Amino acid sequence: MEVVIVPDAAAGGELIAEAMAALLRRKPDALLGVATGSTPVPIYDALAAKVRSGAVDASRARVCQLDEYVGLPGGHPESYRSVVLRQVVEPLGLSTESFMGPDGTAEDLLGACAAYDRALAAAGGVDIQLLGIGTDGHIGFNEPCSSLASRTRIKTLTEQTRVDNARFFDGDIDQVPHHVITQGIGTILEARHLVLLATGEGKAEAVAQTVEGPVAAVVPASALQLHPHATVVVDEAAASKLKLAPYFRATYAAKPSWQGL
Ligand code: PGA
Repeated sequence: MEVVIVPDAAAGGELIAEAMAALLRRKPDALLGVATGSTPVPIYDALAAKVRSGAVDASRARVCQLDEYVGLPGGHPESYRSVVLRQVVEPLGLSTESFMGPDGTAEDLLGACAAYDRALAAAGGVDIQLLGIGTDGHIGFNEPCSSLASRTRIKTLTEQTRVDNARFFDGDIDQVPHHVITQGIGTILEARHLVLLATGEGKAEAVAQTVEGPVAAVVPASALQLHPHATVVVDEAAASKLKLAPYFRATYAAKPSWQGL
């Protein structure tokens, strides 16, 4: 995998937004797999700025979700559908028809999981999948010991993830759902390009295990090592536990600019 160390979150957002813009220039109806949480917000801000300035036309882009809480009512402001509509779909000027995600309110949740995998395949597959990483090494909501071959399914959140996400629910962990639908690790690995952004000291250990540790279900993000085109973008704080940081810096510094991510 390629590891790019950037000075700060804004630089990471700009770099990834430019990769997305380059993709949209090549393939205007690209399917953009987006992630939620705090980390990707600078990417969405930078991409929306490029759209506003005319640097890229995103009008034919399609957007899909990585995961969703189970049981939050449709219009709940913290359902990931609401978050992606607010942070991505609306700022890019897209219609809700260009957007898809798993239905966390479905009566038949297992059916909804299978339907989402089918919908992603029917849409031609994800062109670029953005990922955050949990402090426990999760990608999407694939918590430690998730099968590396897993498909979209229901997962139970770890206590750590519910603590981490309580800040989106007025700091009240009791409001954080226990269950989610998440693209499986096998599903995620089918995207054509995986881009993981991690910022802050709190992610440094998970990043080191992901990049320099063994491929292991206990660190779900380590599955990125199995993907032929995986990019890990980290700020200085998140890179602070990487032993190979000097090598990653030298490699990226020598990369021709036309190559992109
Ligand atoms: P965060 O979440 O960006 O809010 O830290 C990342 C994740 O849980 O994947």
